[in-house]
Amino acid sequence: MASVELQQINKSYGSFQAIANLNLSIEDGSFTVFVGPSGCGKSTLLRMIAGLEKITAGELQIDGRRMNDADPIERGVAMVFQNYALYPHMTVEQNIGFSLRMAGMGKVEIERSVAAAVTTLQIEPLMKRKPAQLSGGQRQRVAIGRAIVRNPAVFLFDEPLSNLDAELRVSMRVEIAKLHRRIGATMIYVTHDQTEAMTLADKIVVMRAGKIEQIGTPDTLYADPDNLFVAGFIGSPRMNFLDGTLGADGLVRLECGAVFRPGPVHAAADITVKLGIRPEHFVGRDDAGGAIDLKVDVVENLGGTRFIYGTANSGQPVIVEDRSETARRPGDTVTAGFPASRALLFGADGQRIRQARRANGIPAE
Ligand SMILES: Nc1ncnc2c1ncn2[C@@H]1O[C@H](COP(=O)(O)OP(=O)(O)OP(=O)(O)O)[C@@H](O)[C@H]1O
Ligand SMILES: [Mg+2]
Repeated sequence: MASVELQQINKSYGSFQAIANLNLSIEDGSFTVFVGPSGCGKSTLLRMIAGLEKITAGELQIDGRRMNDADPIERGVAMVFQNYALYPHMTVEQNIGFSLRMAGMGKVEIERSVAAAVTTLQIEPLMKRKPAQLSGGQRQRVAIGRAIVRNPAVFLFDEPLSNLDAELRVSMRVEIAKLHRRIGATMIYVTHDQTEAMTLADKIVVMRAGKIEQIGTPDTLYADPDNLFVAGFIGSPRMNFLDGTLGADGLVRLECGAVFRPGPVHAAADITVKLGIRPEHFVGRDDAGGAIDLKVDVVENLGGTRFIYGTANSGQPVIVEDRSETARRPGDTVTAGFPASRALLFGADGQRIRQARRANGIPAE
């Protein structure tokens, strides 16, 4: 096991800066997930930790030792790729044992390591098959098996589940979580999928354009995002944003007509703000700190819950999770209330305007 420390890391491809002055401490044995839009630098960062990409400037330490120029093998890391990268002409058994054979390990010892890995991954019956005879999920297990036998201190996963169908993704996600619990190695995992990030991570690193926007536990990023980008990235369906102003009287007036009093804020009066409220945080009119009238455009019924896609008086779209018994139809008018404690405020610069808060990170009412 090992900690991973990135200090002032930069990566340039010619004049293009893919990673800029990035600092990150990853604790020994933790599960860290990098998320962010396509092209933000997630794979680049992972590949620099793996030793597959040169670090332009800055320092990488693994377990307290500088590793910038170490060979991938010396770093004690193993990477699992999105496309699995299995050898097509080798059986499952040979694929998993390959790196051990290359390292000159004895036959008996290799057999023992491979057997332990296939047991962990429950792929014993597939030992003699070749990759072309496996399903996507089985191939993914083999790819993870190749990493496990190397007994790395740090596992690096680059979107390992993105080629799988929705159901398999969920079950493999659980398998990876179990694997982490069982072997306790440090894991760094890249994904676009914020559900994967929320469910797997001890810490999520939200990236945009080569920089870190926020680092935090899933709960912190969900309840207490630093800025509009993180607020909009974490959560599904995504947070609603409504335009308004914060007046000298401490009231927020939204363009759609809603008025409410947020907790005490540290901000100049009479400024433009955005209100952020998650679809699941709307409540009935009664216990609301504010309320938005909206016209229903579409109702998505998911069985256990429903999402109303509507439009506020201001013309802005609003998504509301509706747990009421009342049937809603397109064209209906619905009043969606929200407690002030769930209303996040953002300034014109996209940064959060924090309200006085309780110890649990949720703003006080
Ligand atoms: N070898 C390269 N030469 C030039 N630019 C590159 C190279 N590799 C990556 N880039 C650029 O660096 C940026 C970061 O790429 P990276 O692959 O890390 O993104 P990513 O966050 O993993 O995206 P995705 O989610 O699409 O996999 C992108 O703009 C990409 O075009
Ligand atoms: Mg990538």
